[in-house]
Amino acid sequence: MKEHLPNQPRHVAIIMDGNGRWAKKRHLPREAGHYAGMGAVREVVRAATDTGLANLTLFAFSSENWKRPKTEVGALMALFRAYFRSDMDELVERNVRMRIIGHRSRVAPDIQQMIEDSEKRTIANTGMNLTFAFDYGGQEEIANAARELARAAAEGRLDPETITPELFAARLFTSALPEPDLVIRTSGERRLSNFLLWQSAYAELLFLDTLWPDFGRAELLQAMENFAARDRRFGAVSSEAVA
Ligand code: IPE
Ligand code: IPE
Ligand code: MG
Repeated sequence: MKEHLPNQPRHVAIIMDGNGRWAKKRHLPREAGHYAGMGAVREVVRAATDTGLANLTLFAFSSENWKRPKTEVGALMALFRAYFRSDMDELVERNVRMRIIGHRSRVAPDIQQMIEDSEKRTIANTGMNLTFAFDYGGQEEIANAARELARAAAEGRLDPETITPELFAARLFTSALPEPDLVIRTSGERRLSNFLLWQSAYAELLFLDTLWPDFGRAELLQAMENFAARDRRFGAVSSEAVA
C-alpha cells in the first residue's frame, strides 16, 4: 500500500448526483444516465485504488429514492446487480474490501445475497475500503443506533451515563471506517440529502457542477488537490498560527 501523504484525505465520500440531468441533456431516458453513471463509478474506483486512497464511500441509492417511479427504481436495482456481476472480479484483483451500508432488508433477496457474497469474498482484502451506501439514510442510521443503545439501557446492559460520541459511532454502519475527510457532491446541488450526517461533522465539503457521468479520474484527482489546499481547524486555531 502507498504511503499516506500529509493533506491527503484518508476517506473520500461522494454523493453521485446528476445522472438524470446528464441524460436529459442528451434527450435520453433517465436510465441511460444511470448506466453512464455506472461507468463513472468504475473509473473513479480504479483511479482511487491507483492513487492509494484508503477509503472511498459512494452514495448509490438513498432511503428516499424509493419514492421514484417504479421503473426507475427497477432500473437502478438492475444496474446494481449488473455492477456486482461485472466488476467483482476486478475489485478482488485490486485487493478492494467491499462493504454495503444501508437498511438492507428492504432490497430484493437476490441483491441481499450479492451484498453478503461480495462482503464475504473480500473480507480478507487489505487494499481500499470501498463502501456503497445503498438504501441508506443518515437519520435512519442514527435512529437505529439510538434504539439499540436505549434497548441495552432498558435491559440493564448499559449505563446511559457511559454514552459518548465514540460509543455512539460504534453503533453506526460505518463503525469500521474513519470519518470522511472530504465529501463531494456532483451536479451543482448544495445539500447532503441525508448522507453520512453524523460522520461528516468535520468533513470538508466540495460541491461541483459536473454531472456524475462526467466525473472521472481527472475530477477525482483535482478534488483531492482542492482538499490538500484546505486548512482544517477542527475548532482550534489554524496550523500556521500554532507553528
Ligand atoms: C443520481 O442521479 C443517482 C441516484 C440518485 C440514484 P439522479 O438520478 O438524482 O440525477 P438528477 O438529480 O435527476 O439529475
Ligand atoms: C442523493 O441524490 C442520493 C444519491 C446520490 C444516491 P438525490 O438526487 O436523490 O437527492 P435530492 O432528492 O436531489 O436531494
Ligand atoms: Mg439527483
